[in-house]
Amino acid sequence: MSSSALRDAQAALLHLLPQRQDDWRPAYHLAPPVGWMNDPNGLVFFRGHYHVFYQHHPYSTQWGPMHWGHARSADLVHWEHLPVALAPDSEADRDGCFSGSAVVWDDTLYLVYTGHRWLGTPGRDDEGLHQVQCLASSQDGQTFTKHGVIIDPPEPALQHFRDPKVWRQDDSWWLALGAQYGEDPHLLLYRSTDLHHWETLGSALAGTREADGYMWECPDLFRLDDTEVFLYSPQGLAPCGYAHRNRYQTGYRLGRLDANGRFQPRTPFVELDHGHDFYAAQTLDAPDGRRLLWAWLDMWESPMPSQAQGWCGQLSLPRELSLDGERLRQRPARELVGLRQTAQQYGATRLRNERRLLPLRGDRLELQLELDLATSDAERFGLALRCDATGQEQTRLYVDAQAGRLVLDRERAGCGVSGVRSIPLTPGQARLKLQLFLDRSSLEVFVDDGAWVLSSRLYPRQDSQGLGLFAHDGQALFGDMQAWTLRDLQL
Ligand code: FRU
Repeated sequence: MSSSALRDAQAALLHLLPQRQDDWRPAYHLAPPVGWMNDPNGLVFFRGHYHVFYQHHPYSTQWGPMHWGHARSADLVHWEHLPVALAPDSEADRDGCFSGSAVVWDDTLYLVYTGHRWLGTPGRDDEGLHQVQCLASSQDGQTFTKHGVIIDPPEPALQHFRDPKVWRQDDSWWLALGAQYGEDPHLLLYRSTDLHHWETLGSALAGTREADGYMWECPDLFRLDDTEVFLYSPQGLAPCGYAHRNRYQTGYRLGRLDANGRFQPRTPFVELDHGHDFYAAQTLDAPDGRRLLWAWLDMWESPMPSQAQGWCGQLSLPRELSLDGERLRQRPARELVGLRQTAQQYGATRLRNERRLLPLRGDRLELQLELDLATSDAERFGLALRCDATGQEQTRLYVDAQAGRLVLDRERAGCGVSGVRSIPLTPGQARLKLQLFLDRSSLEVFVDDGAWVLSSRLYPRQDSQGLGLFAHDGQALFGDMQAWTLRDLQL
């Protein structure tokens, strides 16, 4: 059913489209056609397509009454934007259709999302906040019928109660969501036979403000091998050394969901990505059994210079999750080789106290190389990306041998952004394997086959497209490098 709110949203989008400027528009990452984007929502495979929905405000580049934007792809490479799927046009969701998930049942696509309302004056504070869980369904995968509220808060005073994730297990539907009791975060569980009526199973896991933050946004609970992964985005964790540096975090705990619906964690919270911009990750259960993950490649309250150009927000590349001992690995989805155009190869290079520009330029590149840690004694060595001719503008990814860390430095990465993020190297590690995906305003670095990932937004000038290697205070050995120009799909 297409409501007038949906038609208005679509009309606003079409009206704003010609005014958009594309200096930092991604070539191959999903971004909203215009306006604002945050969390990925409703990740699902339905009748031959991967569907990705997202938190969207089509009227402006500021967060506002949330709609669900929508795109789909048959191959995880080429994406087609579809009309806005949900608008805040019913009493229960009048101030926003907040984050949620999707499932397919009986060849019907169901969306489960949070209906958000302020009983008093709309704002972003807690006063009068009222959140409920809602259901919508679609036969064609494009137009949705709302079925209203399916879960009310267990107590009227519970204000933060959102982001339902639904999955199928043991012939039942299960639903997990995040809630805040007083100052403490909870993961609440529900169970249903028909997606409309839900039995409460109570708190699967409770945290405390001090240790676990005050709210767990966007929970996801899924099985990898024989382990259950609780993926979530805690708010309120204090920065600690190199950890928790962003405004909010996304990470996971491993454990077991027992028969009583209690999650028994066996590992502490681990951050999933170590860059500046990664939040609200969610997963998709692919038909071939893979667990694919997308995240919002931005951060609340971070600079978003593309707002001045009529759009903001971008999703991460789809990543394949696997379990390696007690840690998750994330690898770029294998389909992404389909992005590759021309390939170039560079032989091993030894540099001593020098900076060398490569005969390769680009703002959409995939690079694969190894750094030889065993025979390098430079204090700092690595890559300079998106460089201008003078080196005034550049994003650097380098080994800091004194600190024993791989550093992503965007102090000079362009408009608005700054700061460094880093991951530890293993003492005695002989080689460091890097796979980089550079797009017009983002960098995703997969380290050692996805054991670590760093993802950050960059806003360089359009003509800063140089690529260089450098070694300071000593020599460094860079192994063979493979480089590909990636397709300009202008998503
Ligand atoms: C996470 C979040 C969710 C909420 C949505 C609102 O980024 O705050 O908890 O549903 O964004 O847009």
